[in-house]
Amino acid sequence: MDLYGGFKPSFMMSDGVTDVLPGRGQLSKNEYSRKLIDEHGVVPGSPRYMQKSVEFLPLEVEVGHVIGTNEMVYWCPHDEFNSFIAASGGSGAGKSVFLEAVAGQSATHGIPVVVVDVHGDLKVPYLKDILLSSGSTSSVGLNPLAIEGIDPRKKGLFDHCEALVSMVKRAVPTLSARQRYLLFNAIETAYVAAGIEDHNPRTWGRQPPTFATVSCILDGWMRDPSLKAYRDSIAGCLASLGAIFGHPVFKRSNNLSVSSILGGAVRLDLSQLDERVQVIVAETVLRMTFNALKAMGPISANESAARGKIRLLVVIDETKVLSMGNGDPDKHSNILNVIGTEGRKFGIAGCFASQSSDHFGADLRRNISSWVALRCMDESEARRMAADMRVPASALQALSRPGEGYFRSGSRSVAVHMQVDPLEVLPPPGFAL
Ligand SMILES: Nc1ncnc2c1ncn2[C@@H]1O[C@H](COP(=O)(O)OP(=O)(O)O)[C@@H](O)[C@H]1O
Ligand SMILES: [Mg+2]
Repeated sequence: MDLYGGFKPSFMMSDGVTDVLPGRGQLSKNEYSRKLIDEHGVVPGSPRYMQKSVEFLPLEVEVGHVIGTNEMVYWCPHDEFNSFIAASGGSGAGKSVFLEAVAGQSATHGIPVVVVDVHGDLKVPYLKDILLSSGSTSSVGLNPLAIEGIDPRKKGLFDHCEALVSMVKRAVPTLSARQRYLLFNAIETAYVAAGIEDHNPRTWGRQPPTFATVSCILDGWMRDPSLKAYRDSIAGCLASLGAIFGHPVFKRSNNLSVSSILGGAVRLDLSQLDERVQVIVAETVLRMTFNALKAMGPISANESAARGKIRLLVVIDETKVLSMGNGDPDKHSNILNVIGTEGRKFGIAGCFASQSSDHFGADLRRNISSWVALRCMDESEARRMAADMRVPASALQALSRPGEGYFRSGSRSVAVHMQVDPLEVLPPPGFAL
């Protein structure tokens, strides 16, 4: 069994090109990035660019400038106890512009980035856009039953089936205990039918079943006279599955893989999906990615030196969709809380935005070491944020311009009044300056 559960992120692969890229030397990080792009045609997000990520370490993101002095404000995750940063602010306060700045600079500094874009309005150069929708412009799908990335030494198929059932339960809260029991059995049966056995991880690489298979199994049980007493429950299960997993994104043959996420810089556009499907898609992607990074093991001293402790930056706009869409944002099993508490060990950094700091679950909140408080959506949010930022609520209520806010991090005990600087859009490769 190889350490990576059968896949290798592309930053670990050679792409067969022998032309040796120069080191950074005396160039600034931005100059070096331009050199790679303009002179070598190597763009952020590509495997060759990623191989030069060590030249950009440690990651230093220009968040903005101090109002009054113009001194630059940086987010330097290596100086913090955790690589998580969050922004809160009402609609139009500048959260998306902030996320674009963090995602864009991180990708330009050779960090693998995945942006979960619920509104579809984040514009970050060099990110590969992947649209997940029912239309014909979207060809990529997602199979939540895929067992990619799970480390059989730590987790069995049983846990995976349980996680799937609780995900369906969160999407369809009315699912009864009996229906969950039936669903669990139907999912297990679907794996067995696909030749995938819990006790034999070597079978886990086989083609996984889909929710269509699970529905077929439940349908068969509906017709089985010996299961007459269960018919109503089975019908309820089928209706719930159909409402969500009948969506075309769960029926495609070309599915999003973990390696495509870990190997580059991608933006997942979920704006065309309804909220219940968004929750399932976002959670599946994050869970698959987290499992894969966990299977790679804790980040070692060597790897830390080579990657600055960050294997992947997860960027999530509208964190509420994931935290509240799943019911209780404080639940320890919520994927955002799992990432918040365990992510650092496995090299996950995060940049999150939401209208209210309440939308961040308690575990995640405790682990966010850097905050940007933008114009608050109401007075009670201003009071909540004021306590965290250690600035008077009146100062937060006085924020008026988009992007104007306060920045505070664990390494900087006093919050600074600052203005977020939008991502500087660099001209395309080959464009003469
Ligand atoms: N830091 C900034 N500097 C200048 N303009 C900004 C800044 N942040 C936001 N804006 C302006 O405000 C608008 C709303 O910002 P946006 O990031 O979409 O808000 P939110 O995501 O919080 O709803 C943007 O289209 C942009 O024109
Ligand atoms: Mg926004």
